[in-house]
Amino acid sequence: MLIKFAKPSDVKPSEITPLSAYLDRRRFMKTAAVTGAGAALLPLLPNGASAAAKFDDLAKSPYSTDEELTSFMSVTSYNNFYEFGPGKSDPIKNSKDFKPQPWSIAVDGHCANPGTYAYEDIIRPHKLEERIYRLRCVEAWSMVIPWVGIPLADVLKRFEPASTAKYVAFETVLRPEEMPAQKTRLLDWPYVEGLRMDEAMHPLTLLAIGLYGQEMPNQNGAPIRLVVPWKYGFKSIKSIVRISFVENEPPTTWNKSAPQEYGFYSNVNPNKDHPRWSQRRERRIGEFLRRETLMFNGYAEEVAHLYEGMDLNTQY
Ligand code: MTE
Repeated sequence: MLIKFAKPSDVKPSEITPLSAYLDRRRFMKTAAVTGAGAALLPLLPNGASAAAKFDDLAKSPYSTDEELTSFMSVTSYNNFYEFGPGKSDPIKNSKDFKPQPWSIAVDGHCANPGTYAYEDIIRPHKLEERIYRLRCVEAWSMVIPWVGIPLADVLKRFEPASTAKYVAFETVLRPEEMPAQKTRLLDWPYVEGLRMDEAMHPLTLLAIGLYGQEMPNQNGAPIRLVVPWKYGFKSIKSIVRISFVENEPPTTWNKSAPQEYGFYSNVNPNKDHPRWSQRRERRIGEFLRRETLMFNGYAEEVAHLYEGMDLNTQY
């Protein structure tokens, strides 16, 4: 991965809006919309926030952490979404014209119910949950993000995977007109990722459609993305348009780009250094001191059994 050091354009801690202030602004906006006096405030809001729909009545999850949340401002302005450029502030700047509606997902491969499904039909039967997860990027920074989503397993079961489906492959939308870096050869587009079937079916694996109680901002992977909290962040593929049930381990974008650096599994592992930097510690965005990275990003109790018998230093 192209590792980036802080640039003047990156968000500074002093610019980060606490959630309470952000929510106050939204409350104000609601009132202001009625009185017609709110327009002057809109430029203060991060991209997408002014138009975002809010989700009500989210189920709480026992899988949520009670660690302090990373601010909405950081979560939505310090991003990796290479389709919009390699810099952390490129996604918020360059995703304004991306259109996440209407949206559909093609489902194919080894399953009883392949087809092209409208986004709404995928989501509608499910109860939405809030899941507060740690996100650990392979670049050694981390965040705590309150996602809104559905366990991926619940959605996949509806497609009735066959016993021959050993892996699930995912693909990001290819729209060079709306995603400017897709006109370059920065990566091999479209971005693709994959999970072993038992990883995909694990209750921690989330299909996320929002964060901070509102619909997914473009820069975070609108309208629907994966969140796999015990793996490095690049496994959590954004803006998904295809889900394929396959027999063999599918190709993945970062592995194709630098196979010696990024394996298929990419579980968070402080004992396995990246060839160019240590993975022992991480910088939690918003904090000053670096903290220890935990095995499986702190989710070992839930997921370590999936890798029993595997040598995590050679199979990574
Ligand atoms: N998905 C796509 N399609 N393109 C990307 O560049 N970046 C990945 C992942 N999903 C990426 C992607 C990386 S490296 C990380 S760390 C996370 O998204 C970042 O998610 P966030 O920007 O919502 O924090």
